Amino acid sequence: MITTLKRAAVVLAFSASAALAAGGAGHIEDVDFSFEGPFGTYDQNQLQRGLQVYTEVCSACHGLKFLPYRALGYEGGPHLPEEQVRAYAAQFEVFDPEIDDWRSATPTDYFAESGVENAPDLTLMAKARAGFHGPYGTGISQLFNGIGGPEYIASLLTGYTGSEREEAGAVLYGNDAFGGYLSMGPPLWGDDVEYADGTPATIEQQSEDVAAFLMWAAEPKMMARKQAGLTAVIFLTVLSVLLYLTNKRIWAPVKREAKEAYKKNNGKMPAE
Ligand code: HEC
Repeated sequence: MITTLKRAAVVLAFSASAALAAGGAGHIEDVDFSFEGPFGTYDQNQLQRGLQVYTEVCSACHGLKFLPYRALGYEGGPHLPEEQVRAYAAQFEVFDPEIDDWRSATPTDYFAESGVENAPDLTLMAKARAGFHGPYGTGISQLFNGIGGPEYIASLLTGYTGSEREEAGAVLYGNDAFGGYLSMGPPLWGDDVEYADGTPATIEQQSEDVAAFLMWAAEPKMMARKQAGLTAVIFLTVLSVLLYLTNKRIWAPVKREAKEAYKKNNGKMPAE
């Protein structure tokens, strides 16, 4: 008994520390993103603003090498018109091994890799930094609050403490969300971009926009997945009701007979 209790305590302590580690040591601000919850959808304008922040600021160092340009035209995503997708891609050059030369990119090419060696690729970052797992990593909380990855990115961009320190010749910057010091200096200062839709480009606004964009980059088909899930739930609910009613109907005559036999036998189960 004692050993069982001890074991349970060890397991509990372990899962608690695992949950802490998953959440990161830093401070993450919860953001009400439009795509959270079972019915959430991406905000097309926000994704377009986020693309702008990524393009004009983050892409100087970070790549998005798993994302094809054509995805920018997807419905449920930034949903840029086809000619804008083509024009966006055409700004960049890719090396084409077939012609052994550089050429301007087309929608079927992929975003560039990171240009700075120690800057991680951002395509899957929103998933890599997911938190919000809920009790014991059940993921329940993610269903309602989202996975926490975009919150982490937004908090990282707004979480600079202003303190710096030098380590092995490199400057490191204090950040509350990171929970320590990292080698990326504050990339946003406010008004880093000028939004076409007139939204004021505060640090917070730009951070949330680019975080939403990176969530979409990590999961461009989220809305289709949610829709399929909802359809499945509705289908299974209807199926359950039908099965229940069918079951009742099939057994109704048998039940009636049994009841009558029971009554005839003065309230005792009839012998076989
Ligand atoms: C000047 C280059 C540079 C720019 C511009 C830049 N970053 Fe970074 N970023 C880095 C480097 C370098 C790291 C690695 C930091 C480390 O691990 O110490 C990093 C790390 C990150 C991380 C991962 C942090 C972690 O948890 O490990 C995220 C997320 C990130 N950057 C997002 C962004 C976003 C979003 C932008 C644009 C708003 C941006 N960065 C702009 C250089 C840059």
